[in-house]
Amino acid sequence: MKIDEYKILIQESLKKYFDEYSRNSSYSSEIWESMAYTTLLGGKRLRAVMCLEIAKLFGADINDVMPLACSLEIMHAYSLIHDDLPSMDNDDIRRGKPSNHKVFGEAIATLAGDALISFGAQLIIDKMPKYISPECTLDIVRDYLLCAGAKGIVAGQCADIKAENKQINIENLKYIHKYKTGALFKCAILMGGKFAKVNKEILTKLALYADNFGVLFQVYDDIIDCILTTDELGKTAGKDKLENKMTYVSVYGLDKAKNIFYSLVDENYAILEELNIKSEVFDEIYGMLIKKVKK
Ligand code: IPE
Ligand code: IPE
Ligand code: MG
Ligand code: MG
Ligand code: MG
Repeated sequence: MKIDEYKILIQESLKKYFDEYSRNSSYSSEIWESMAYTTLLGGKRLRAVMCLEIAKLFGADINDVMPLACSLEIMHAYSLIHDDLPSMDNDDIRRGKPSNHKVFGEAIATLAGDALISFGAQLIIDKMPKYISPECTLDIVRDYLLCAGAKGIVAGQCADIKAENKQINIENLKYIHKYKTGALFKCAILMGGKFAKVNKEILTKLALYADNFGVLFQVYDDIIDCILTTDELGKTAGKDKLENKMTYVSVYGLDKAKNIFYSLVDENYAILEELNIKSEVFDEIYGMLIKKVKK
């Protein structure tokens, strides 16, 4: 399976769930349009792909894992919509199109983000008991909700906003990356593992792998913010500098940030080896990120 094949399946499933759940919403149809707008615009779908790939590597049928994969992309869309709001990063472009609030207005965009969080959790609760035990469903919903809130993405986003126009220490920067971005990757990878019922030892290694991936992915994002164009990014280039954000580039400079990124990739390959995992999909993901960082 290639990333693009996964992406097609993810897109079809997301469309199906939006159709199913948005039916008969009369007065609130606009909120569903707004929720679907950003979610269905696509993106790399990395969180869903990683969840599916981990589950598959440990023996699961990816069709059964699809509601979980979709819930992750739904949560991701919430985080993007809120991240772009004028009171947050104030970005007018997302995924190569006008940001949610530019199309639907700030009020609807805020509400769409809120509604997406609960929509993702609802999907898990509605669809998963067919495949996994109630205990496992509960465990996964708990992970999902922790990730969305003040012990997950919100914690990181809050620290990110508070660090604007400041010099912060490296521990604080690591915290921002670990939570604003890492929390969702960790949730994705552990969901895949938990669905496939891997043992505790493997789950611990997967958690380490995921923590590392979250940071390396945000370091990658910090780097491409400075070296790619708005067209290439599908979001406004140079935004971090404009908003005076603390990033790996602002703290370490571009070259050192790149070195940190590469060494995190190496560390992750070492963990994959310990896990005895060989995955063309993961190779494709790292290849894709490295190609952009090298540009
Ligand atoms: C953007 O994530 C937000 C970050 C956490 C850096 P992605 O780069 O995965 O965005 P899409 O899903 O491909 O649009
Ligand atoms: C991403 O951080 C964090 C979340 C969206 C949760 P950024 O603010 O760097 O993401 P982009 O660059 O706008 O995608
Ligand atoms: Mg941000
Ligand atoms: Mg942003
Ligand atoms: Mg960024």
